[in-house]
Amino acid sequence: MSEITVFAPAPSLFGFGALVKLPEELKSRGFRRLLVITDRQIASSGIMERVLDLLKGQFEVDVFEDAPNEPLSTDIDKLHKGFRSDADAFLGLGGGSAMDVAKALSIVMTHGGVLSDYEGEGTVPGPVIPIVCVPTTSGTGSQNTQTTVFTTRGVKLGCSSEYIRPALSIVDPELTLGLPVSVTRNSGYDALMHAIESFTARPHGKVPERPILYQGSNPFSRTLALEAFRSIWAVYRRAVRHGEDREARGGMSLGSHLAGMAFSHSGLGLVHALASSLGGMVDAPHGVCLAACTTLGLSYNLTVCRGDFAVLGAIMEGKESRPSGEVFAGRFIENLEELIRDLDFPTRPSDLGVKKEDAQALLRNTLLQTRRIKTNPRPLEDDLLGHIQKGI
Ligand SMILES: NC(=O)c1ccc[n+]([C@@H]2O[C@H](COP(=O)([O-])OP(=O)(O)OC[C@H]3O[C@@H](n4cnc5c(N)ncnc54)[C@H](O)[C@@H]3O)[C@@H](O)[C@H]2O)c1
Ligand SMILES: [Fe+2]
Repeated sequence: MSEITVFAPAPSLFGFGALVKLPEELKSRGFRRLLVITDRQIASSGIMERVLDLLKGQFEVDVFEDAPNEPLSTDIDKLHKGFRSDADAFLGLGGGSAMDVAKALSIVMTHGGVLSDYEGEGTVPGPVIPIVCVPTTSGTGSQNTQTTVFTTRGVKLGCSSEYIRPALSIVDPELTLGLPVSVTRNSGYDALMHAIESFTARPHGKVPERPILYQGSNPFSRTLALEAFRSIWAVYRRAVRHGEDREARGGMSLGSHLAGMAFSHSGLGLVHALASSLGGMVDAPHGVCLAACTTLGLSYNLTVCRGDFAVLGAIMEGKESRPSGEVFAGRFIENLEELIRDLDFPTRPSDLGVKKEDAQALLRNTLLQTRRIKTNPRPLEDDLLGHIQKGI
């Protein structure tokens, strides 16, 4: 355990119109040759064109527009064979998938091997080609985090290293105005759960030192997570239903950005561990798996989280003063369940096709999520299997 807390967020610009600052920010860092990494949908949405227009005439730019969604590690291995680039920086443009592909390519193109060689924490041996991120969803916060997520051998894992924290990110809510309803819903739920699981993470003093800044909750992460939660909760339903609402989009972008900064300094918990396990077993987006694992994960943690759940429950109901724990802690989970139903998410893992007899596999893959489990507020005990069997 360490007495010392480290605060090291990635430099970022936030706000409507922030994208126009991209060229000067790149130049000030000496980046002249860029590889833009994006996916087909962004390439055809007009967003890629806007970015390329800004860069035109000032930078040497190559574009790779085939980044896969929710990548497998083998997708990256296939990609990087025969892939050459002398770029000074990789620019990940898109949602978590495109930004994570930029991070993954940067690792293997700098240090060689295959992506699964770097699975785990602190496995990247040194600096990588700098990564710049321009997010187009309001969800993952990957523009701020030290992680790239990928699926290996049927389990959603990833690589986390402070070397892959982006050198710069530009978060412009304008880019999310055309985000489809389903992506707004799914990526927004991810952001909401980042805020919740960061706020309630195991306290810093109870988390052993590790090579990444998943330090347990601390004053920096808690402040950011609380503000992220407030911002997201206030506008999430509106952003899903009225995508053109600029205030709602701004609130989601800010909240998801702060939540990424928060959880990359605290770590997450059981809902993410379960959802990543489920995500390797069924074909459903990360945000959908999180919704399906919410009741299961939060009810397991309730006994140790009453105080924190009460704080969040009070914000949900517009009461900022510290409320009586019992009532608001229970209502916190109920309010989330109501949200899940309102937005037509699955409410439990079996809604996505897993069966009671899959409980053991779900547990096994959950226990592989050590990145998340070490910061879950409640240490995992033998009763978790029974809890999963009941809640699946
Ligand atoms: N690295 C991290 O720290 C971290 C954290 C959480 C989640 N993740 C990972 O990120 C991935 C999910 O990312 P996501 O939720 O941002 O979705 P995504 O990147 O998978 O995008 C979903 C779809 O939306 C499209 N899209 C994105 N922005 C758009 C826009 N503005 N207009 C039109 N279409 C748009 C994309 O092209 C894609 O087809 C998962 O693999 C998840 O595990 C990573
Ligand atoms: Fe997430």
